[in-house]
Amino acid sequence: MKLIIINGPNLNLLGKREPEIYGATTFDDYFIGLQSKFGTVQLDYFQSNIEGELIDKIQEVGFTYDGIILNAAAYTHTSVGIADAVKAVATPTVEVHISNTFSREDFRHQSFLSPVVKGLVLGFGLQSYDLAIQSFLAGAE
Ligand code: DQA
Repeated sequence: MKLIIINGPNLNLLGKREPEIYGATTFDDYFIGLQSKFGTVQLDYFQSNIEGELIDKIQEVGFTYDGIILNAAAYTHTSVGIADAVKAVATPTVEVHISNTFSREDFRHQSFLSPVVKGLVLGFGLQSYDLAIQSFLAGAE
């Protein structure tokens, strides 16, 4: 199984950024643990702060990978372009958020992605990514 985690803007700062919300672990450290936990999965990772690069990556992987795990971060709440890309490709996407966006500011309650994704995992800290991977593995059984 071939999966990719795609992270959007400011998620390169995990570990330093608002640790009371996003935790103190860097994504690189977490990702190493994920790769060893899911040893049978080809698990790739891409991060960009740029909307168009996220769209390019979704298009690039979206006809060959088995799943996309997408935390579009702030673009979740603003980007019709990313939602269109998710809808355009054949590969299913699971939307992920580290925090529970519904317990935060009103503008975070809106997601352009939720209507076009396979499912949504949020509020479990970095473990949200883990659960999203498990959802693809369970679906493959
Ligand atoms: C986030 C939630 C978004 O509202 C925010 O803009 C982020 C991170 C999360 O993972 O909790 O950057 O996607």
